[in-house]
Amino acid sequence: MGRGFGFGKVILFGEHFVVHGVPGIVSAIDSTADAEVRNIGEGINVSDDREGAKGYARQKRTQQRESIRRMLKTMRIDPHKTSLKILLGGSLPGFSGIGASAASSVAIARAIADEFEMRLSDEEINEIAFEAEKAYAGTPSGIDNTAATYGGLIWFKRNLSGGPNTIEKLSIKEPVEAIVGNTGIVADTKAMVAGVAERKKSNPRKYNQLFKHAEDLAFTARKALERFDLRTVGQLMNENHHLLQEIGVSCKELDYLVNFARKQGALGAKLTGGGGGGCMIALVPGKELQKATATALEKEGFKVLRTKIGIQNIKKI
Ligand code: MEV
Repeated sequence: MGRGFGFGKVILFGEHFVVHGVPGIVSAIDSTADAEVRNIGEGINVSDDREGAKGYARQKRTQQRESIRRMLKTMRIDPHKTSLKILLGGSLPGFSGIGASAASSVAIARAIADEFEMRLSDEEINEIAFEAEKAYAGTPSGIDNTAATYGGLIWFKRNLSGGPNTIEKLSIKEPVEAIVGNTGIVADTKAMVAGVAERKKSNPRKYNQLFKHAEDLAFTARKALERFDLRTVGQLMNENHHLLQEIGVSCKELDYLVNFARKQGALGAKLTGGGGGGCMIALVPGKELQKATATALEKEGFKVLRTKIGIQNIKKI
């Protein structure tokens, strides 16, 4: 049997903008998708045991099948001559926005490589997972699979000419408490990414300004993170959420969660990932603020993940 894992993530700055070459900042979280693969049975069979938003596994099934096909092609494994039993689990729930698809692709790629004794480097796993991500995101930037593969806090810039992306590990003084609140809505990242590209094309003046703003914000946020100025980081997250509203990827449920978290004392809150449902991330330094904010959200009936950003060298749990 082969085994593998991939980290979940939250995007602190720059989702959607990264697809178009703007830098973004992503933090892996301490939850993983785990996969077990056996080369037995008939055809490709996937059992998805991950806890998830209602309907997540069902709604993602077609994209998941395509992602595995893409993965096998990149690994030069003929799906017609191979039998695979894939079991997906782990502590990362199947919520939209926290990298569940990329984490599962990295986990499955590692588990297949393990089962077939392929000895692949992290760079190779990352490339395979990037191909798989195309099934979920259409034209992904690569930020999610990068975080899922390497973990840690990462400055990411997509190379639009097809060359290597910029991937820089960032470090902060210490990990900071955060919470992820789930709207319960399963979102289609592919449709959200395509929507932004269309609107950008038909309204270049407005979008160029917003994209320039997002770029400046990423650089300012990097500096604030590096000097551990959490108040500024929080304010910039709020500003980033506003930009995401402007490009049409938030929704009333996400806005509700973001405002609710801010009222509870979160230093900043924004949607994370593709938007249109899925999750928000709120910065809530200290155990007490984290607990109070999470509990208040749970009382409202939302699923909450308590986590930390900026964890370095996280290993398989
Ligand atoms: C999804 O987590 C992040 C997006 O920017 C898509 C991508 O970068 O591949 C929406």
